Amino acid sequence: MKIEGKDYRTIWYENNVVKIIDQTKLPHKFVIKDLKTVKNAINAIKIMEVRGAPLIGGTAAYGLALAIQENNNSEFIKKSAEELIKSRPTAINLKWAIDRMIKKLSGINSDQILDVALYEAKEICDEDEKFCKNIGINGLKIIEEIYSKKKDTVNILTHCNAGWLATINWGTATSPIYHAHKKGIPVHVWVDETRPRNQGANLTSYELNEEEVPNTIIADNTGGILMQRGEVDICIVGTDRTLSNGDVCNKIGTYLKALAAYDNNVPFYVALPSSTIDWDIKDAKDIPIEERNSEELSYVEGVDENNQIKKVLIYPNKSKAMNLAFDVTPAKYVTALITERGISEASSDGLKELFKK
Ligand code: MRU
Repeated sequence: MKIEGKDYRTIWYENNVVKIIDQTKLPHKFVIKDLKTVKNAINAIKIMEVRGAPLIGGTAAYGLALAIQENNNSEFIKKSAEELIKSRPTAINLKWAIDRMIKKLSGINSDQILDVALYEAKEICDEDEKFCKNIGINGLKIIEEIYSKKKDTVNILTHCNAGWLATINWGTATSPIYHAHKKGIPVHVWVDETRPRNQGANLTSYELNEEEVPNTIIADNTGGILMQRGEVDICIVGTDRTLSNGDVCNKIGTYLKALAAYDNNVPFYVALPSSTIDWDIKDAKDIPIEERNSEELSYVEGVDENNQIKKVLIYPNKSKAMNLAFDVTPAKYVTALITERGISEASSDGLKELFKK
């Protein structure tokens, strides 16, 4: 998608380095950063220079290729793979991508291993772009249906950034929105600010602006009253881990939005590529929920009058803070899942049917 009119993907390999858009600098500065080593890739995932489930999967795949580029000793590759998987705990895409890479690399001789790793990392990214595009084509039908009844702007609420910046391209939750916008359907997006890291305000609103999609940032607690007032036609969010029973684990606050949507009869859709499905964990209580540094709550970042990025403390010095990064929305609150294969009920039967082969 576009930044200042130029098409980008979020990650690519060029001149022996992996290039990423440093998302910690957005929306104030557009910086392309080089990842030269597997350590760089692990750090980029940890400090969220790259974030969003599909993109951290793609970064992990390229991270493993960087490890091989540094040293193709099998012990080093194995240790790098383990560290990449551990770099963030909740999104299943890290493990999914590394497992796929390891499978592809097994039995490949040392002369070819780097080429195969780079090829597979690109395949993972290309596939994500294709799947996210298909999510958009499938989700477009839902927006079209709302528009054909309402005959007026479709108001869509989204949480966090499940946009193209969270994937390789198109996004998950945003892909139906971009497809609708490109088709000329009038859409307007309510963007949850998404404290504490403000992915909604900093990233979703930014990328929608760049694509000229009308949007309004709201505080995280505003969605409820907007739904009561009939000002939300549909919610679409992403997910970091979808269980086979249809429960979805996504950015903290998603659950509360789903409850409000349920109470107000607003359809609540979750958009995902199949790489975020965890077919193994059966009980949501077993999903590892990331707890991040509480300073993400107590400090906020912005630009000062000299356009310099600054961090300021906003809490009392002595106060404790707790920063859980994800929550689980039970399947019963999810209207349906929008995937690359089609739209499915958020249930074991729905997912089984869609992914039977
Ligand atoms: O902590 P983040 O910014 O990585 O969290 C991202 C989300 O919660 C997204 O909604 C999710 O990864 C889906 S991205 C298409």
